[in-house]
Amino acid sequence: MSEHQHSHDDHQAPAHPVTASEWDELYSTADRLWTSNVNPAVIAEITGLTPGSAFDLGSGEGADVRWLADQGWTVTGADISQVALDRAKAIDSRETITWKAFDVTADSFDSKYDLVTASYFHIASDDEATLHKIAGAVAPGGTLLVVMHDPEGMRAHGRSPEGFLWPDDMVRILGDGWTVVTNDNRERGIPAGGGHHVNDVVLRMVRKA
Ligand SMILES: C[S@@+](CC[C@H](N)C(=O)[O-])C[C@H]1O[C@@H](n2cnc3c(N)ncnc32)[C@H](O)[C@@H]1O
Repeated sequence: MSEHQHSHDDHQAPAHPVTASEWDELYSTADRLWTSNVNPAVIAEITGLTPGSAFDLGSGEGADVRWLADQGWTVTGADISQVALDRAKAIDSRETITWKAFDVTADSFDSKYDLVTASYFHIASDDEATLHKIAGAVAPGGTLLVVMHDPEGMRAHGRSPEGFLWPDDMVRILGDGWTVVTNDNRERGIPAGGGHHVNDVVLRMVRKA
């Protein structure tokens, strides 16, 4: 697979996995599902922040986690799929990275973090509880970064954007305790998903101290 794609190239619009075994099954269809490169929005939003503790939810094969660790963050890469975690750990097992089996719908965060990131982890619109749980893992003064495929790209890739929480929903649901730094729909730079995902939706918020 080209390094230039965060790609579902060989998996055009599959039935979307939900359970750990469904995600394991999807990961088992290829040696590598996603790009090895950090997502561009993560570079754009996190470069320049003072490194501390970070939690990447839905870390997949770990490209964002590796980049964060390179910047000096102590990172937990957390994913529901053990296949993805094993793969990520085989790529990078340095000490400042913890690879953690974690289902955000069922498990609790064991700590608060200076940074919580979630790239292409889409939350169902009827699951505000999961959003609150994710946001609750951000320490006062800490940053929440959510990167999603934009609705148009989702449609182009055969998926309906209805049924997900979008940044404006998140800002409304999380309320006054947050400062919105970025709420943007922007070109990804390197289209993903076989070229369908041209734009990212990017939300960066800081929890008021
Ligand atoms: C589209 S992939 C994105 C992977 C990675 N963030 C990236 O940008 O390449 C979504 C990831 O979320 C994980 N995931 C799905 N449901 C989850 C859950 N309930 N708890 C934790 N991780 C989950 C999947 O296993 C998958 O690795």
